[in-house]
Amino acid sequence: MRGRIPDSFIDELLARVDIVDVIERRVPLKKAGREWTACCPFHNERTPSFYVSPAKQFFHCFGCGAHGSAIKFLMDYERLEFPDAVEELAQSVGMKVPYEGARDSAPREDKTDLYAVLDAATRWYEGELNKSDEAKAYCRKRGLDTDTIARFRIGWAPAGYDGVIRSLGSNEKRMQLLTEAGMVASNERGNKYDRFRERLMFPILDRRGRVIAFGGRVLKSEQGPKYLNSPETPLFHKGRELFALWQVKQANSSLARIVVVEGYMDVIALHQAGLPIAVATLGTATTPDHTEILFRAAPDVVFCFDGDRAGRAAAWKALESALPRLRDGRQAYFLFLPEGEDPDTLVRKEGKEGFERRLREATPLSEYLFGELSHEVDLGSLDGRARLAERARPLIARLPDGAFRDLMAQELEKRTGARAVLEADPVARRPLQRPVAVQRSLVRSAISLLLAQPGLADEVERPYSFLRLDKPGVDLLAELIDTARARPGINAAMLVEHFTGRPEYNALQKLTAATVVGEPETQRLEFFDALVRMERQAVDQRRDALVAKNRDGTLSNAEKAELRELLAARAPTPGAAS
Ligand code: UTP
Ligand code: MN
Repeated sequence: MRGRIPDSFIDELLARVDIVDVIERRVPLKKAGREWTACCPFHNERTPSFYVSPAKQFFHCFGCGAHGSAIKFLMDYERLEFPDAVEELAQSVGMKVPYEGARDSAPREDKTDLYAVLDAATRWYEGELNKSDEAKAYCRKRGLDTDTIARFRIGWAPAGYDGVIRSLGSNEKRMQLLTEAGMVASNERGNKYDRFRERLMFPILDRRGRVIAFGGRVLKSEQGPKYLNSPETPLFHKGRELFALWQVKQANSSLARIVVVEGYMDVIALHQAGLPIAVATLGTATTPDHTEILFRAAPDVVFCFDGDRAGRAAAWKALESALPRLRDGRQAYFLFLPEGEDPDTLVRKEGKEGFERRLREATPLSEYLFGELSHEVDLGSLDGRARLAERARPLIARLPDGAFRDLMAQELEKRTGARAVLEADPVARRPLQRPVAVQRSLVRSAISLLLAQPGLADEVERPYSFLRLDKPGVDLLAELIDTARARPGINAAMLVEHFTGRPEYNALQKLTAATVVGEPETQRLEFFDALVRMERQAVDQRRDALVAKNRDGTLSNAEKAELRELLAARAPTPGAAS
């Protein structure tokens, strides 16, 4: 008997694997906006209706309705039982599956109490900060406002060896928890004492906003190492956690860009300055796990480092950990700060706008990579170019297949004249599948967005002003809206079934499959934007018709008035082409 796999493990596993990787290894995927798409492996089809959403870590087929997580995909695709699918996935990310209730396994570890004790510690430190003039003065000196202190739950670990122990370690069980959570340490004689003393405390939260560890800063540099972090515990693996990722997610419903800086104070200063897009690694180099988490949070990642040698070395490490994660659609940038500055000092000097300008001007990974490799290489000589090619090839080979890798290979070829043969056997390489740009008319986009969320129909104002637009599909759109209105809760498939046997049926099926799986709110905005633009096109159409008629001299008086009005209200139609 293997026993039961705890839910917490499934959570953790799904947080570690990327569904796009899992599926891509079995079914070649093409990028389609924020999603990935393919012909569905679960039913026979010639146009892709199978979508994989990295943001939702979910797959969905609009054709056959198959959907689910990475685990579900493996179960369906490889015909595995649940535990075997979990085993297979766990293996791919180097995790060991724990089983509960099996005769030889340890009793299930309930982490609830550990979270609770860390939360209690956080509250205690927050209270202590309130009582300490010295710590409050330091916060003021560093320019932390009360809102920021509250948002980051900053606290103060007072002097003394047993503050936390006395207030939270009232019995054997709680002492045990404090120890396991990394809050108390013990000396050679086995005496236990508070790990953090006389330090400003920065709680580290996990992806669900629970405290899992702390960083603590001394107020004066002579008081030992500047920062002390919690040790690795069952809850805290610093190679996988990013400081303030929770706050970033709280502040942004969708994120175009995330910035990685080096220090706690850097993150906090940026958030306070109105840039809640910064996270930090916790005194470690950027790991591949970090990079994956970063790219799942935002398609563009800016790595920000001090301009000194340590910063440059750290940046190169980050580059190396980013390479295998740079699928199409993801971009990494590098921002080096002037000597002697860090994001904290800079954003205070230059403000939000100044820092944003630096972010915009950050160096793209390709430029940084070739720049670094070309150091001390004479590109004027054949020898130098060969050296560059030799250095760059293994790095480019680490990029996943895709357009970006091709571009990098081309760039190398341009710079060195050397062909970037990346694999021993190029024939064996899977042919690249690039997304085909779909040119969709406004009406078609509106229809496909409506199919994605039939509920939007309720919000369309009547009478439908877009109806004045004379374009194919306009009537169909109106009919779809009416049908969806009449049937609350209807889904796309049901809606399309209303048109069985009609000439529009096939087109609607295709539009359903082509539907973007983006954020519902974005889709909603796009849908209403499409309607507004259709309306504007209708106005343009009417105006052009009247102008033509005017030229023929056949305008009635009413039409003349209408034309005058239209010309007066004339506004450019953005992207009116269809
Ligand atoms: P910095 O010294 O650059 O941190 O170290 P900072 O945030 O700018 O600190 P301030 O402005 O002096 O308060 C960067 C990061 O390296 C880790 C911490 O995570 C810190 O935020 N670090 C630094 C340590 O873990 N231990 C140390 O002794 C120093
Ligand atoms: Mn600093």
